[in-house]
Amino acid sequence: MVMRRVRVGVLISGTGSNMAALLYASRAADCPYEIVLVASNNPQAPGLTLAAAEGVATFALAHKGMARADHDLAMDAALRGADVQFVALGGYMRILTPEFVGRWEGRMLNIHPSLLPKYPGLHTYEQALANGDTHAGCSVHIVTTELDGGPVVGQTPVAVLPGDTPETLAARVLIAEHQLFSRCLADLVTQGSSPEHLAAQVRERALALPETDEVVSHGMPCFGIVKGKKFAYVSLNHHGDGQTALLVKISGLDEQAMLIEQDPARYYRPAYFGDGWIAIRLDLGDTDWGAIGDWLARSWRSIAPRKLTGLIDVADQF
Ligand code: GAR
Repeated sequence: MVMRRVRVGVLISGTGSNMAALLYASRAADCPYEIVLVASNNPQAPGLTLAAAEGVATFALAHKGMARADHDLAMDAALRGADVQFVALGGYMRILTPEFVGRWEGRMLNIHPSLLPKYPGLHTYEQALANGDTHAGCSVHIVTTELDGGPVVGQTPVAVLPGDTPETLAARVLIAEHQLFSRCLADLVTQGSSPEHLAAQVRERALALPETDEVVSHGMPCFGIVKGKKFAYVSLNHHGDGQTALLVKISGLDEQAMLIEQDPARYYRPAYFGDGWIAIRLDLGDTDWGAIGDWLARSWRSIAPRKLTGLIDVADQF
């Protein structure tokens, strides 16, 4: 099976050594992500030169004189223009607008040179030394609107040595950062395509529809109307095909053929289900979950008794 790598954009403001660590880690054949864009608010950032020399697309836009919201919008447009799926902040020294953070919710990581929640913000090494900490360190966390807040997904403590200065300590913490960041990024992008995670995404949407429940049918999570017909299945490595897909009802053979012709990598005819069903791959890394919600709602509607669809029709009018 050809592995589609998850497309990552890295935002930097300076040296970009963490970006370089991510980039070189991604050169390994089994790395689940690739760096497709390095973008900076500092056109002089040395990391841009390195990225360009390594054949990675770059984008630079000085923030000076721009409203924060406009600058964030331009960065967002660059990321989207490069079909980026996940964002890594490698020393991106900008406070991000809640709108930008919201657009990358759950798909943006930051690396920070302290053992969070200790020492958010700047001067982390100075604080660790001044407080006599035995260990400094680094953290990788999911970015939320709280500065250097958000769930920590990985941490590495780094011993403070006698005679350490902020500079000597920073140099060692940076070595730890370079090891940690790539591992955390790889975990995050693969977690998103794990069969369990994908099935959970379907479950959340399917069970939000009226009067539905879940059973196991032929080893597959299966969703239906309580004591009624089934409208969705999640195919998990069926007969060892290594794929995760959603099976929903459609209008028939014509629609099935049209979908498969439109996007043969995503749609297929599910074995044993006949013409009235379509399988939609969930593990391609670019699943539009809004569209999956629509497929589920449509499939539900096609089998739901009128007394239930009637309720939805009434609700839709408001
Ligand atoms: C790194 O130490 C990173 O942890 C820190 O900036 C440095 C960037 O170095 N980030 C923060 O302080 C974010 N709050 P790099 O440009 O060589 O990767």
